[in-house]
Amino acid sequence: MPTSEQQLRRILIGSDQLSVLPPGELAIEGSRVSDLVSTYGSPLFVMSDTTLRQNVRRIRNAFESEWQAPVNIMYALKCNPNFAVRAVMHEEGAGGDCFGLGELEATFAGGADVDKIALNGSNKSDTVINRAIDLGVYINIDSEAEAIQIERLAGRKQSQVRVNIRLKVIPEEYRTYSSDLINFSGDFRDELRRLKWGVNEQTAVRMINNWASYPHLKLTGYHTHLGRLSQKLEDRVSYDREFALVISRIFSETGFQPSLIDIGGGWPRDRDPESGSQELNRYSIEDYAQGTCRALTDSFMEAKITLPELWLEPGRYIAGNAGILLTRIESIKAEGNFKWVYVDASTNIMPLIGAVVEGTYNFVVSATKMWEQIEDKADVVGPLCIPSVLHADCPLPPVTKGDIIAILDAGMYAESDSNQLNWIPRPATVMVKDNLVGLVRQAETLESIFSTQRLPNWLQETTEFCSMYRNRVLKSSQTHG
Ligand SMILES: Cc1ncc(COP(=O)(O)O)c(C=O)c1O
Repeated sequence: MPTSEQQLRRILIGSDQLSVLPPGELAIEGSRVSDLVSTYGSPLFVMSDTTLRQNVRRIRNAFESEWQAPVNIMYALKCNPNFAVRAVMHEEGAGGDCFGLGELEATFAGGADVDKIALNGSNKSDTVINRAIDLGVYINIDSEAEAIQIERLAGRKQSQVRVNIRLKVIPEEYRTYSSDLINFSGDFRDELRRLKWGVNEQTAVRMINNWASYPHLKLTGYHTHLGRLSQKLEDRVSYDREFALVISRIFSETGFQPSLIDIGGGWPRDRDPESGSQELNRYSIEDYAQGTCRALTDSFMEAKITLPELWLEPGRYIAGNAGILLTRIESIKAEGNFKWVYVDASTNIMPLIGAVVEGTYNFVVSATKMWEQIEDKADVVGPLCIPSVLHADCPLPPVTKGDIIAILDAGMYAESDSNQLNWIPRPATVMVKDNLVGLVRQAETLESIFSTQRLPNWLQETTEFCSMYRNRVLKSSQTHG
């Protein structure tokens, strides 16, 4: 029987900062999980500064060594929106992809260079466009109507705005489509056509031929985003090849030579829970970079298009394994053939995980019993009112109440997608770096999550109870934790 440490070693990847200290306790960048939880509470998100840096450096190197023009790695903030993560990205020279006003402000709160930032979004408000114009970032436009909207707003300010057109990309190879994430029976290209983002080739040609109507817009290139659809290298390459072919056809019709292309995010990682597999990904980011860059370069050379700058918007690749969720065991129950380990975290704070519903496979380790042999299986579940399972049939050593469990790959789409189902306040996040620990997001409290609640006038009779509740119950809940 392997120990939890042996199990962990099997699936460790280069940028993980995990070690095991005596007497068999997991440490993240040298910080013991029990120290972290006793200081900051449980559950607790822990982000590794070093992992973030190593990931962004690796993806940049992978693409820079394959692309013969400048590369801009733009961190997709939606994946993990903490200002501290953005600050690390800024120190590393990364640009950014922002969706909406909140992400735009958060990007600049964490540090950003306007020449490396793009605003995305299918329907952008005047407010966010005005802010983007004032900041001077690029805008990836989603429709003809949006071009008219930006022109009107930029005209009022007498500003020049750099824009890219988001293209729909429909590879012929996607007629039938199945991947680790999607098994689709119809023509998958129709699904892509139906997606709300971007414009098709004909619309893009019309817009470019009519560009004289947008004197305040400077067209710099194109954007597209496939998302994390497939781990298969050939699927990614077909998509990128088709993107280059669309750009080449538009070039031959309009003569427009892009100075940059933004190929979006969705890059699968070495340990890739979305694949549902317990095995590491057989493709590395270097493989994806080589496949993508060669497909794009070949098509551009054929069309006699000068290689534009290459922009990418990775989210999960950078933040995925940088985050770990620590959660304490509250109770254990066994009945018949079943066993449940009840922890204090649930899928409200990691909505994308759950082996049963989502098909993902996030590794879970018994962080305070790393040297004990795995001889048990249990469903790891949380306190929610829904039957969400964090990990079904999780291999574990004999754990007890109070032990800490670590869920790997919790850095992506956990905090940003989390909710307060059952009025559960969301936990804190800390960042660790070489034995240092810093709080980057305070835990919510009942008081902070109830503070937005109001009672309408016609429920006035209950006001007395409310004020009693606010004055007494909340105060005492704060005192007693
Ligand atoms: C436009 C755009 N860019 C980048 C990303 C980041 O994708 P990922 O985290 O899969 O790399 C997303 C995710 O939804 C997106 O919508």
